[in-house]
Amino acid sequence: MEADQVLIRSSARWFLVVLALGIWLRSAFVWMYNPRPFDWGSLIHAHSHTAYFGWAGLGLMGLILYVLPGLTGEPLVVPRQLRWLLALSPTAVGGALVTFALWGYAAPSIAFSAANEVVWFFFAFVFWQNVKGRPVRDWPAALWLIGVAVVLLLVSTFGTVLIILTRVMVHTSDPVLGNSGVYLFLQAYGDGWLEAGIMGVAAALAGGLANRTMARWQSLLLLTMTVPAALRLLIPFGLEGPLAVAAQAAGLGLGAAQVLYLINMAGSSHRLPAVVRPWWLTAAAALAMKAVLEALPLLPGWAELAAERNLVIAFLHLKLLALVTAGLIGAMAYVGLVGPGFPLFAAGTAIMVGALAAHGLWAGRNPVLGHDLYAVAFWAGVTAAAGAALAIWPTAVPPRLVKVAAWHRAP
Ligand code: HEM
Repeated sequence: MEADQVLIRSSARWFLVVLALGIWLRSAFVWMYNPRPFDWGSLIHAHSHTAYFGWAGLGLMGLILYVLPGLTGEPLVVPRQLRWLLALSPTAVGGALVTFALWGYAAPSIAFSAANEVVWFFFAFVFWQNVKGRPVRDWPAALWLIGVAVVLLLVSTFGTVLIILTRVMVHTSDPVLGNSGVYLFLQAYGDGWLEAGIMGVAAALAGGLANRTMARWQSLLLLTMTVPAALRLLIPFGLEGPLAVAAQAAGLGLGAAQVLYLINMAGSSHRLPAVVRPWWLTAAAALAMKAVLEALPLLPGWAELAAERNLVIAFLHLKLLALVTAGLIGAMAYVGLVGPGFPLFAAGTAIMVGALAAHGLWAGRNPVLGHDLYAVAFWAGVTAAAGAALAIWPTAVPPRLVKVAAWHRAP
């Protein structure tokens, strides 16, 4: 099997694990029980790291390898680092899943996180081998976006180094410093690598962007504003002064980049295949909402809102389910098989995110409303996960199994 297919299939399998863990976690908010021998905090880390490293990370790598030859005009260059990447990634992701679930942030999970970073460096090397020798100004616009994504993937590793330095080695008591690594990682990996990468893949599959100048500005904004915008997330921990103002301005720059991309994609003449369209329209709607939300830190009282856990989780899942996951599944519909789960996924995701946002805004002093909203979020989560699993199932299971299942259904 080709490397791109191997990565996409393995990411789809990790996604099934992520979904199961997500539902299990959501149930705890309704029924309040103890998941012995685990600890809920550790299971949350297992869920989020498997989602980032396995589902979104490997899936995006596979999709980039799939579109690269079309963008460079050459067959894929396959250095031995690609084979090392394929050999290391199952252990790196699986090891992170198990060690985070058992011990949370501790030496073993940090070691497996570092193994994932080695996978990212291999990927950056493979990307470089495929594009070197071509002046950047001559790259197709979609390749600019993918190039920005790969740079931000490497930048995100500084975030994890900061986490290790400030939380494991030094144990700083300064909340701004103590949280800087987490938010640098979240912003560079989530908004940088994943978002810019999916934008690039979607632009490549859709046959390019309408306006190159707009695409150049958009790529530059993403490259320069993503890291400073991470500082916004430190405002609730006490960051103030010129750095806080610069961070808010950078956030507006990111919002502008997202709007420019949507305008540019809307202007491209390519018609999307029917199987792709609902997923990408969902991702585009989530990106538009996110572009508007980038301006929220300017509002007075935002710092208190940003410290509210359910609002943060609602925003994260708007980004990671409605934008990243819908974007990835839409792109996977081009590459392989995608099943019929879209309506369940879309309805479940919208209700889950809405219920968590409502909980964060209104349920603080009302435990009955809080419990009811958690119950709504749980059942909506089950619905979203069922839709996502149905959609991704044919990509996740080995081709032979799909054939057997089809044969059983035959008259
Ligand atoms: C229907 C599917 C999903 C459900 C039901 C779900 C559920 C949850 C729950 C219950 C939490 C913990 C909330 C809390 O601590 O208050 C959580 C956290 C999180 N989830 Fe999900 N999730 C789903 C899909 C995803 C996906 C696809 C991704 C990424 C691609 C993702 C990334 C995260 C992240 C980053 C966190 C925060 C972790 C932290 O703050 O340490 N989730 N999720």
